[in-house]
Formats: sequence, C-alpha cells, structure tokens
Amino acid sequence: MTIIAPSLLSANFLHLEKDCKMIHSSEAEWFHLDIMDGRFVPNISYGPMIVDFIRKTTTKCLDVHLMIEEPEKYAEAFKKAGADNLTVHIEACTHLHRNIQQIKSLDMKAGVALNPHTPVESLKDILHEIDLVCLMSVNPGFGGQSFIPHTLQKIKTLRKMITDAGLSVLIEIDGGVTTANAASIKEAGADVLVAGNTVFGSANPTETIKQLMIAG
Ligand code: DX5
Ligand code: ZN
Repeated sequence: MTIIAPSLLSANFLHLEKDCKMIHSSEAEWFHLDIMDGRFVPNISYGPMIVDFIRKTTTKCLDVHLMIEEPEKYAEAFKKAGADNLTVHIEACTHLHRNIQQIKSLDMKAGVALNPHTPVESLKDILHEIDLVCLMSVNPGFGGQSFIPHTLQKIKTLRKMITDAGLSVLIEIDGGVTTANAASIKEAGADVLVAGNTVFGSANPTETIKQLMIAG
C-alpha cells in the first residue's frame, strides 16, 4: 500500500489548523514537513515551533525533511516538537553515519535525502542503518516544480539495492508528484509519495489524496 504524505509547504499558513485537520481526516498516513534554512536551499520555511503546533492537530506520522546545514544542531529540537521521522540530506552531512546514530538515539526513524544529481549508489554503506530514503525528484527549495523523469531510473536501481540486501527501507519520492505520474512512480518501486501542490492546489484535496493512493 502506498503512503501519501501531503507537504504542508503548499498549505495556507493562515488556515494551518484547517489544512492539518483535512489531512488528519483524509487517507494520507503521513504529514510531510519541509524545513529550509536559506543556506542549504535558497528558501526559508519554518522551524520546530510550527512543527510543535502541527503535532497538536494530529496523531499521524510527522515526516520531517530537513533541508538545512548542520542538522545535528536541531535534531533534538525536532524530536521535542514531535517529529516521528527525521530526514537529513546526504549533501549536508560530512559525518552522515554520526547524524543517523543521533537521530536513532533520539528514538526517531532516520531518513536520508538525495538531491537529483546524487547517485543512489552513494547509499551503499549506510542503507542498512536507515529507515527511509527520500529521493528528490526536483531541486529542493520550492513546491510546484516539475518531476525530473530520470528519477524513475533511480527508484528502480534503489529498489534493487534494497531487495538484494534483504532490507525494508522505504523509498519516498519528493517533488512534482501528480495524479498523472503517480502510477509510474509506484510501478518503479516507490513506497511513499510526497505531494504539495497537487494536494493543496486541488479543489478537493481529500479526493486528490484518494486518487494518488489508488493510481496504478
Ligand atoms: C521541495 C520540498 C517538497 C515540496 C514538494 O523542496 O522538499 O516536499 O514541498 O512540493 P510539490 O509536490 O509541489 O512539488
Ligand atoms: Zn520535502
């Protein structure tokens, strides 16, 4: 079963509680929360304080995607705010193994995100330590961009790596997911689909979430 993770980045922050309640009562299993520092990515979003408010609206999994440098400085703050999954970027972590150990010691699921240019093979010696790989299918920083087609090949390669190693790491696809391409992304081997613009730009977000789930 595919997990749908609506990205709050495209929500209306003046009506955040309403949008959170909509996701909570929808078929989406996760909330995807994008944290941007204006250094690792050319945009600034929100921090632990907002995550803490979102936590109070739902019991569903809070999937926190850190697009920040020095994520080790903030892991504890996001744990306190209620994060269930904490994903760091491989490109931002010189000591990735240490970052993963820190996240796990804080009793969160550990994820690693890869920018579009980063080969999935770079995960070879860390795959057995992690719970989730987030493959960026756009360049991180903004919602509403177009899906990069080469991601499908990366999903297939990563799926084979996970199967060959006998692991159960989840593959999450982040960026440009639509009701039109969801089926091919799933078919390539994805477990989790993040969707921002597709969900919040829809006239009927709850129905769109359902369509993303049944696509394919
Ligand atoms: C991009 C973020 C994504 C983004 C996805 O940097 O990591 O999670 O919100 O938005 P859409 O689905 O609109 O591409
Ligand atoms: Zn994201």
